[in-house]
Amino acid sequence: MNVIDALNSRFTVRAFTPDPVHKGTILKILDAATRAPSSGNTQPWELFVAGGDALDRLRHAYEERFSKGVPGSPDLPAPQQWPPTLQKRMDELKAARFESLGIERTHAAARHAMFERAHQFFGAPTVVYLCMDRTLTAWSIFDMGLLAQSIMLAAQQYGVDSAAAALLISYPDLIRAELEIPEDVSILMGVALGYRDRQHPLNQYRSPRRPLQEVVRFKGLT
Ligand SMILES: Cc1cc2nc3c(=O)[nH]c(=O)nc-3n(C[C@H](O)[C@H](O)[C@H](O)COP(=O)(O)O)c2cc1C
Repeated sequence: MNVIDALNSRFTVRAFTPDPVHKGTILKILDAATRAPSSGNTQPWELFVAGGDALDRLRHAYEERFSKGVPGSPDLPAPQQWPPTLQKRMDELKAARFESLGIERTHAAARHAMFERAHQFFGAPTVVYLCMDRTLTAWSIFDMGLLAQSIMLAAQQYGVDSAAAALLISYPDLIRAELEIPEDVSILMGVALGYRDRQHPLNQYRSPRRPLQEVVRFKGLT
């Protein structure tokens, strides 16, 4: 698969089959992905990969927490407010996801079911937790973003689907306890890896992109 095909075919899979991804494949994905550039080649990433019993225990702990209505408290707090144009795109995404499930977004039970699914890690057999030293700054978060996308693109090469999701790291204390992640590293992002359920309505949705003429300003090029 070439890079353009990988870029175009990747999308956030929100319903995985339980089929495991072999550890050898995950190692190949991470080996390629850690070729990602980083500021001063600092390679700030510390990766913790959960599957099998460990991920199942975590999934159950998450479900229990979520069912009690405990709000998430990620190491990297979510922004309280977004600029209106960005908020609008987020609202459109939410609306489209509800629509793909054929549910009213005002329907509290349906909303709950969707969040519950996310808190079950979309059924993924593997989650890679992307962590870095707590003292690092936004410079290194940029590096972590490059790594996250590299993992997802490398995964495409091996026919492995993915989902980067903040919801995967809602309860860092649970992840820390299960995976023995030290307190001095922040858990920044979770990337679920697995094989998509091809029939699931959530996986039929493809998100739009802003037109390039709105995003890019050229000067000095013909
Ligand atoms: C930093 C980050 C956090 C995200 N968090 C979530 C999340 O919590 N739940 C979710 O369903 N998707 C999450 N996503 C996926 C985005 O919604 C998705 O990338 C975006 O809508 C574009 O769609 P696509 O990935 O299918 O191209 C996240 C993506 C990123 C990069």
